[in-house]
Amino acid sequence: MKIIGSFPKTRLRRLRKHKWMRNLVSENNISHNDLILPIFVCDGKNKIQSIKSMPDVKRYSVDKLPVILKKVKNLKIPMVALFPYTPDNKKDDQGSEALNPNNLVCKSLRLIKKKFPDIGVMCDVALDPYTSHGHDGIINNNKIDNDETIKILIKQSILQASFGCDVLAPSDMMDGRVGLIRKALDKKKFTDVSILSYAVKYASSFYGPFRDAVGSKSKLKTDKKTYQMDFRNSFDIFREVGLDVKEGADMVMIKPGMIYLDIINKIKENFKIPVLAYQVSGEYSAIKFAIKNKILNEESIIESVMAFKRAGACAIVTYFAIDIAKNIKKSN
Ligand code: PBG
Repeated sequence: MKIIGSFPKTRLRRLRKHKWMRNLVSENNISHNDLILPIFVCDGKNKIQSIKSMPDVKRYSVDKLPVILKKVKNLKIPMVALFPYTPDNKKDDQGSEALNPNNLVCKSLRLIKKKFPDIGVMCDVALDPYTSHGHDGIINNNKIDNDETIKILIKQSILQASFGCDVLAPSDMMDGRVGLIRKALDKKKFTDVSILSYAVKYASSFYGPFRDAVGSKSKLKTDKKTYQMDFRNSFDIFREVGLDVKEGADMVMIKPGMIYLDIINKIKENFKIPVLAYQVSGEYSAIKFAIKNKILNEESIIESVMAFKRAGACAIVTYFAIDIAKNIKKSN
């Protein structure tokens, strides 16, 4: 690219002189419309639990969900993502609880759709919150069985759709699941339920705090590298996304976010589809602990999510969604 202009005629600081001027020429901005808040749900009644590795993030029992949902509504955050903290005694090697119409996600869906019908709900499609081994799929002969897992994921998808889930988000990384889920949804007339595929999901150590939050960390004895992606690579993102889009994905997620901005940008440039970023638990906690210890200040939050907008993401799943939306409201 040819650089236009030269000093002293050109002075780039002119456009930085006033706050209003900076606002005028800003290329990217974040709005409440760009945010998705993950919410952890726990068993029991009247519970709001802290999560040690994720300061200020809570688990809510279903009856307490309105506490957080009222904030979501007031701040006009369009969608929440539900994640269950399944009690140990309901976990088994098949993740059967995933198919229980009275599991935490299904109960939450019913509550939200009744009391907060305008809030969009996104549900993970994966078995890890339900399996006794903490993996996203079922294990046969010591391997995560792709095709047998998909059969369960299809049922999980239909179940969640039947209770009003707006966006199904397969995060399991089994090959071919998007197409089969889409086909099953259409057959059951859930043609309006969207699929947000976690098309690009790396085997990342940044999921650690999330695994605490859903209680799968202590269960997990091996890594997820036979299904989640190798972070040394970026060639396979084109096939991962391409196949998912062909199979019927409406949107794709890139995850983790902050350390994969190059990937977000490549997908955005090469596929003209909505790309979402997940600022995952480890990214949240790293910033949060630094703020708590006065190593960073609160402004680092907006800076961290603006990077996603610059890279080309249309929306961001972030545990900071409430803080960011409050901040936006204040500055308007
Ligand atoms: C599980 C799932 C994970 C996350 C979302 N869905 C963790 C994993 O794959 O082990 C991570 C989210 C986060 O770290 O915030 N399928």
